[in-house]
Amino acid sequence: MPMKVQIYQILHVVSMVFLTSVVFQSFANPDPKNKKRTGMITGILATLMLIGGFGLLAVMKIGFPGWILIKLACWFGLAGMGGMAYRKPEKIPLFTAITILLVVIAIATVYFFRYTASGSLE
Ligand code: HEM
Repeated sequence: MPMKVQIYQILHVVSMVFLTSVVFQSFANPDPKNKKRTGMITGILATLMLIGGFGLLAVMKIGFPGWILIKLACWFGLAGMGGMAYRKPEKIPLFTAITILLVVIAIATVYFFRYTASGSLE
């Protein structure tokens, strides 16, 4: 397997882990003085995650299957969560539930659509 695949996988997964972390950090502490910084960090991480995702599509020659639309919607929602805690702090419990759902759906998409039930690639 060429090295490029691992580079994009690491970029995709690491930025996803930390984007999710920063979003939950903003839910735990929605202090308005952190708003600008959180926006910058989530923007950068979301961009890296998208580069990783499209990089994987390209280097693994996956094409553009329909499940990518599900992942793009999850990505869009997760990236947008970065600013929500500051705008509507009273809705943080709802945002928490939505964030969990988006991450679960995006990860389940990989294992149901990218991989077959036996664990091998389609
Ligand atoms: C909330 C959004 C997302 C989450 C939580 C997420 C998470 C993951 C995880 C855990 C994997 C498995 C690790 C791997 O094989 O590298 C993966 C794989 C993948 N992701 Fe995402 N992802 C998201 C969004 C996206 C987006 C927006 C794209 C494309 C533009 C994308 C494209 C891919 C591709 C092509 C793979 C398969 C790579 C492989 O077979 O190894 N993902 N994603």
